[in-house]
Amino acid sequence: MWAALAEVGRVAATGGYRRFAWTPPELQCRAWFRQEAAARGLDTHADRNGNLWAWDGAGRPGQAVVTGSHLDSVPDGGAYDGPLGIVSAFAALDILRADDWRPARPLAIVAFSDEEGARFGVACAGSRLLTGALDPGRAAGLRDADGTTLAEAMRAAGEDPEALGRDDDLLARVGCYVELHVEQGRALAGDPDGTGAAAVGVATAIWPHGRWRLDFRGAADHAGTTRLEDRRDPMLPFAETVLLARERAAAAGARATIGRVRVAPNGTNAIASEVTAWLDARAPDEATVRAVVDEVVAGARWWATRQGVEVDLAEESWSGETVFDPLIAERLSVLVGRDGRPAPLLPTGAGHDAGVLAAAGVPTAMLFVRNPTGVSHSPAEYAEPDDCRAGVLALSRVLAELAGTPS
Ligand code: GLV
Ligand code: MN
Ligand code: MN
Repeated sequence: MWAALAEVGRVAATGGYRRFAWTPPELQCRAWFRQEAAARGLDTHADRNGNLWAWDGAGRPGQAVVTGSHLDSVPDGGAYDGPLGIVSAFAALDILRADDWRPARPLAIVAFSDEEGARFGVACAGSRLLTGALDPGRAAGLRDADGTTLAEAMRAAGEDPEALGRDDDLLARVGCYVELHVEQGRALAGDPDGTGAAAVGVATAIWPHGRWRLDFRGAADHAGTTRLEDRRDPMLPFAETVLLARERAAAAGARATIGRVRVAPNGTNAIASEVTAWLDARAPDEATVRAVVDEVVAGARWWATRQGVEVDLAEESWSGETVFDPLIAERLSVLVGRDGRPAPLLPTGAGHDAGVLAAAGVPTAMLFVRNPTGVSHSPAEYAEPDDCRAGVLALSRVLAELAGTPS
């Protein structure tokens, strides 16, 4: 399975992946998902929000045990963030079937659409639409960098954007959700501030996090002839804002990043007319994230005013803190531990569809697979094959435990 996905959406120059929602590489990944599901005799369908579901024993009584992740990527992302959870789900099912598994409940494998929000800006769009956390009208009108709306992109891929929205019938079939994911830090690699080295860990919480867009509007002019005092250059408050985000995050024990910027008209010998910057901010608690963002935005306004530049702010997405059910997390940590030791329990600063489902009241858990460098959202993201196998085994145990008894 891993080999089949290896070249899909791969950018030769960086070795990373560009699998943006509803683009040809992502559609190829979706076709791969359907093939893997069909090869196992699973019933597959896309739900009203474009998430793909593959069902084992849909007719069994009770609510389903659901596992999966996402197939889309950030720009030049790694191979593991998302696909590892889906490949592991199919592989775990294979192990269970080889062991003559007789589940009492249905099992489903899901590929949530547009988890990264790399194309349309809103993270976890598929799961948010499913649970009603994202307004369908707003979602349909989201535009990518070329001006294509999500509705247009879905229609071109054969989906019906009129159907977008909370899906109570489908949610009623979901008993619990378990997502396996590559770790995006070094706790499992044995970092001193982590909880001990191990191939597999269990998530305790997801930090609250969000995305904000700042539009700095100035005036285009000639780079050679315009006196410095006559300029309204949006690049200046933008640059101050990048530095301020770093400084405020450091002071608050938070993370704040401006990793994306758009400059118009983007000419070497022209003063920019407009700079759009995206701020990503996260912290262990919501008050800290909000305080950092407020300080950064206040600073941006102050610097903008000094340059005669206007600045507008838009919150593009917000994810409150997720605390995974501690009883489930502890139970799974014992279940997937090794050599008599429970698997480490760890929080994460990365967002996941599991957080969206947990916020909607679905009993939810996550397994993390060790990442030796901790690097993620980068072509350098990696997990050792043996650790991936340990993740599959751990997931198979979790699924057997959760689906083994009637709900
Ligand atoms: C998703 O990976 C995120 O944390 O933004
Ligand atoms: Mn990611
Ligand atoms: Mn992910």
